Amino acid sequence: MNRIPVIDGHEVVFAAGATARLGELLDELDVDRPVSVVTNSTVAPLHGARAASAIGAVPPFELPDGEAYKRWAEVERVCAGWLERGVHRGQTVMAVGGGVVTDTVGFAAAVYLRGIPWLALPTTLLAIVDAAVGGKTGVNLEQGKNLVGCFWPPSVVVVDVTTLATLPERELRAGVVEAIKAAWIGDHQLLDLLDRPLEGFSALRAEDWEAVVVRAVRVKAKVVRADLREGGPRKALNLGHTLGHAIESATGYERFLHGEAVAWGMRAAARIARGRDLLSPAAERRLTAAIDRLGPLPTLDDLDADTVVGHISVDKKRDDEGVGWVLPTDDGVVLDQRVTTDEIRQVFVDLQRDPS
Ligand SMILES: NC(=O)c1ccc[n+]([C@@H]2O[C@H](COP(=O)([O-])OP(=O)(O)OC[C@H]3O[C@@H](n4cnc5c(N)ncnc54)[C@H](O)[C@@H]3O)[C@@H](O)[C@H]2O)c1
Ligand SMILES: [Zn+2]
Repeated sequence: MNRIPVIDGHEVVFAAGATARLGELLDELDVDRPVSVVTNSTVAPLHGARAASAIGAVPPFELPDGEAYKRWAEVERVCAGWLERGVHRGQTVMAVGGGVVTDTVGFAAAVYLRGIPWLALPTTLLAIVDAAVGGKTGVNLEQGKNLVGCFWPPSVVVVDVTTLATLPERELRAGVVEAIKAAWIGDHQLLDLLDRPLEGFSALRAEDWEAVVVRAVRVKAKVVRADLREGGPRKALNLGHTLGHAIESATGYERFLHGEAVAWGMRAAARIARGRDLLSPAAERRLTAAIDRLGPLPTLDDLDADTVVGHISVDKKRDDEGVGWVLPTDDGVVLDQRVTTDEIRQVFVDLQRDPS
């Protein structure tokens, strides 16, 4: 069993196939029972119910599926559900699902009885390499994403890559984008592992997926350890996210999966970095080739550049001199690079005209 400590009291444990023998694993990790499981309606029949029964828990509490349900109302429902099930302080709860479930349940755990311990069993690639690791939890408001939340790390993140076998291919590819991001930030050899055409989970063996996610998590853990509250180095994880978030928001979160929008954002960041001689042509080709191998992204064709740029201006990272971007360099990233709205508009139009 591979274990990566993130910060005190927050570690990631890799155990392919662990969902079916979760009881034994929690015993090994000294987690007290009972553990109350929360999942969503899609993941429940695939993995959630199995996880709950393997730890001898009552059937899992189910959230509705979708980003729209990452909201206050569900936090309240989850807390009320725990109260009804007699979950008390010192007991542990467990989130089984993608980033929506881990963010929502982690936040509920943070506020329930002023905070109870929780575990995460992420079941999407994005949640394994990103959302479940690092302790950020929270929900959306009508006005925007992730506007309410706190740091409340899960004591253990159990990574069972075999749960990815049921993940739709498009979700898997979108998750690979975050692995590419992690690779560029801190482990260029990981790009070599990802250097192959991807046709769903079955195209790679579970051991290969585990090798990929262990390395990506190691990068995230290192960044988080250096800067838990995003005062400095943790900003590196925003590579591709300034434009990515704007693209998602300008299209109402319907057309692009998060990873797909971030893929466009990383291409834009690479072009800007190339224009400033921060990134060599060969390194830019390497980064874009890694993204291209995932197959075509939803196009930017009919998006209005001004509308997209307008969505950046409400981003919390804006200040008067432009927006602070993370830009790729040949061997990592640089933070806080001022990029003006004119430059962003220009690179966006360039990407529309010449996406390759
Ligand atoms: N806390 C953080 O640091 C952090 C970091 C990155 C992203 N996030 C958040 O994560 C969320 C996105 O997470 P996501 O991409 O996992 O989306 P998601 O949770 O919506 O999952 C995507 C879809 O896959 C389904 N699914 C999950 N596991 C499955 C499986 N094994 N088989 C089949 N279907 C499965 C889900 O039900 C959902 O329909 C966003 O809300 C984002 O803000 C948080
Ligand atoms: Zn992201």
